Amino acid sequence: MQSDCMIPFEPYRIKTVDPIRVTTAQERSIALERAGYNVFQLAARDVVIDLLTDSGTGALSAAQWGAMMQGDESYAGSASFERFDRVVRDLTGYRNMLPVHQGRAAERILFQSLLQPGDVVVNNIHFDTTRANVEYTGAEARDLVIAEARRPAHLHPFKGNMDVDALERVLAQEGERVSLVMMTVTNNSGGGQPVSMENIRAVRDLCKRFGKMFILDACRFAENAWFIKRRETRYRDATPKAIAQEMFSLADGCIVSAKKDGLANIGGFLALNDDALAEKCRNLLILTEGFPTYGGLAGYDMEAIATGLEEVVQEPYLEHRIASVQAFGRRLTDAGVPIMQPPGGHGIFVDAAALLPHIEPNEFPGIALVNALYVSAGVRASEIGSVMFGKHTPLELVRLAIPRRLYTDAQLRYAADSVIDVAHHAESLRGYRITYEPRYLRHFTARFEPVESLTVSQSQSLTELRL
Ligand code: F0G
Repeated sequence: MQSDCMIPFEPYRIKTVDPIRVTTAQERSIALERAGYNVFQLAARDVVIDLLTDSGTGALSAAQWGAMMQGDESYAGSASFERFDRVVRDLTGYRNMLPVHQGRAAERILFQSLLQPGDVVVNNIHFDTTRANVEYTGAEARDLVIAEARRPAHLHPFKGNMDVDALERVLAQEGERVSLVMMTVTNNSGGGQPVSMENIRAVRDLCKRFGKMFILDACRFAENAWFIKRRETRYRDATPKAIAQEMFSLADGCIVSAKKDGLANIGGFLALNDDALAEKCRNLLILTEGFPTYGGLAGYDMEAIATGLEEVVQEPYLEHRIASVQAFGRRLTDAGVPIMQPPGGHGIFVDAAALLPHIEPNEFPGIALVNALYVSAGVRASEIGSVMFGKHTPLELVRLAIPRRLYTDAQLRYAADSVIDVAHHAESLRGYRITYEPRYLRHFTARFEPVESLTVSQSQSLTELRL
């Protein structure tokens, strides 16, 4: 792993700047209280460095803006669709490409066209929208990632790998119930950890043997390809694009949110080899997204994604991107902050349970860390633990997702040092309790309060609220 001084410089110049509004801790404390102690409810202008997500938050290149000016907004058969289609087919090799407004639309269209109630879908770890879209059809989503993935301190070069033996058992036992096998590359919910080509191939072989469809959730395909290049000797001299092409060639199709490695602010696609299934999906696409040559996107969006997909596989970009995330992780590790090891591709996942052992899961150590970080430094991160997944969560993590090409390494150093500052007084942090939660996806809109500030009258009214 590279040390800080070994991060290559950003392989681009900055043409447009967007000033950062610096707030005081007192202002942030007020803003957070107003937001019900939930950073999803903050106004973005009250955030100094925003590491909530790497999705749709990156900076566009001059080439993307230029291509967007050429956007063809024809309803049917636009030149922008032709270009988007050409770029995706060259990269993935799949015969059919359906544009969608973002990744979860591709999930919904594929699953509703393919799944029946009672079916089983297997993945290394389903991302939350993927799981929700599987379950919405009445099917069951099963995660079969290798056991090492659940141990944050454990080092493994491909911690996103599928447990191939477990997959074989499920395929043998469940038979016809398994209608789809998926792999998420990189594995977001497990810390942005990569999957090896060897593992993708082993999963492909099993799918072939059992006659199962195999689909990649490939929104961070280029970052995964870079890890393969660096960690799987056979691919040392291959280009990231050639590695990505090989990854795609092992599956029957993919769903992609272009808001990540598409380097775009919106968009996505579903690509499939199976013509009959693609036809079925296209019918649903027309019904709910748009005509098949725009599928919920403007012509200029398709131009931005097409150019983004060409740029994201360039070596200087990926080398800087991954080195900069690794350096962030290294800085925290050197200061003794427990993180998911090794650092993944799109962010750093702090192990809040290990950092705050005095806060029980039912008092949300992740929320305690996220809120302390926001008030002290204005850095917005997100909890991936008991609030997001309920009491069945295996881990209490806090994700610092790094948007692409947005922040300089000096800004990221500030964010890392802010985490270290908070970690230094970890024992003074307090837990939270929920005062309101919605029925679904509670992490977005739940409201909290710090446990120690709860007065008798507040706790009474809380009880009344629950009753
Ligand atoms: N699959 C994975 C692995 C994802 O990380 C995401 C989104 C999606 C599918 C859905 O894509 O947002 O375009 O509909 N992840 C974002 C995140 C939201 O913050 O990690 P979408």
